[in-house]
Amino acid sequence: MYSAPRILFAYLNYWFRASSGKGHGIHSPFVYSFIRDVLMDRRTHPSWASVEAARKKLKADKRLLQVDDFGAGSVSGASRLRRVSSIARLAAKAPRYSRLLFRMVAFYKPAVVLELGTSLGLTTSYLSLANPAAKVFTMEGAKEVAAVAREQFQSLALQNIRLIEGNFDQTLPVFLKEQGVINFAFIDGNHQRDPTLSYFEQLLPHAGNDSVFIFDDIHWSEEMEQSWAAIRQHPAVRCSIDLFFIGIVFFHKEFQEKQNFCIRY
Ligand SMILES: C[S@@+](CC[C@H](N)C(=O)[O-])C[C@H]1O[C@@H](n2cnc3c(N)ncnc32)[C@H](O)[C@@H]1O
Repeated sequence: MYSAPRILFAYLNYWFRASSGKGHGIHSPFVYSFIRDVLMDRRTHPSWASVEAARKKLKADKRLLQVDDFGAGSVSGASRLRRVSSIARLAAKAPRYSRLLFRMVAFYKPAVVLELGTSLGLTTSYLSLANPAAKVFTMEGAKEVAAVAREQFQSLALQNIRLIEGNFDQTLPVFLKEQGVINFAFIDGNHQRDPTLSYFEQLLPHAGNDSVFIFDDIHWSEEMEQSWAAIRQHPAVRCSIDLFFIGIVFFHKEFQEKQNFCIRY
């Protein structure tokens, strides 16, 4: 992971490079609609309050969990004790981004949603509430963390989520064997270059024309910047949008010219 000053520098670089998304300059009607109808939509949704109440409780939850460490910077097989409160503060995506994902699911109505990296299930809950008709699959390797996520899904009465426990290295290929098109994938676990590229490559055969894949923390390290560069340059990706903390890719074959956007959010 980059140091805090290095991330700040990368962020400033993004901010000055990025388009405001307002006014002219975005010639793609698809991206223009994404900006107007999804990115800049300022409405709130009544269901968000229940997830934020759950977040508040989790932030005050002093239970200690044994957390198996799979992600970037981990020693293979290592585990350590972490408080639920600390996981809720540090691992969960901020509401602003979970709500953006909610709006994307509500707008594009993907039938099959996949999240890699459930953690305590806060973003999963947003994905589930955005379209109760969607099937939401979420994967988590840390057993005790997954158990707390299950508690959340139960207490929020979310019926359309299936949580798959285990290391992505084993669970993802098995899951994908059973799946056709994945309409929406949020890759938010194991922020290292090779695993991220491997998840992308495994998911690619499941990308339909209207699929959207979202990668988290694309600028948090040199490795993640390398994986984001490789993903957006992939010939199957017809449009990419860099929002700094997340990167979004679309596969529409009718986009004859590949377009890479960097938009302020
Ligand atoms: C950043 S957190 C996910 C946050 C969640 N998406 C949210 O917004 O609330 C990443 C999670 O991925 C899990 N993870 C990372 N690498 C994994 C792997 N190889 N297999 C299974 N789980 C993994 C970690 O245990 C962690 O809980």
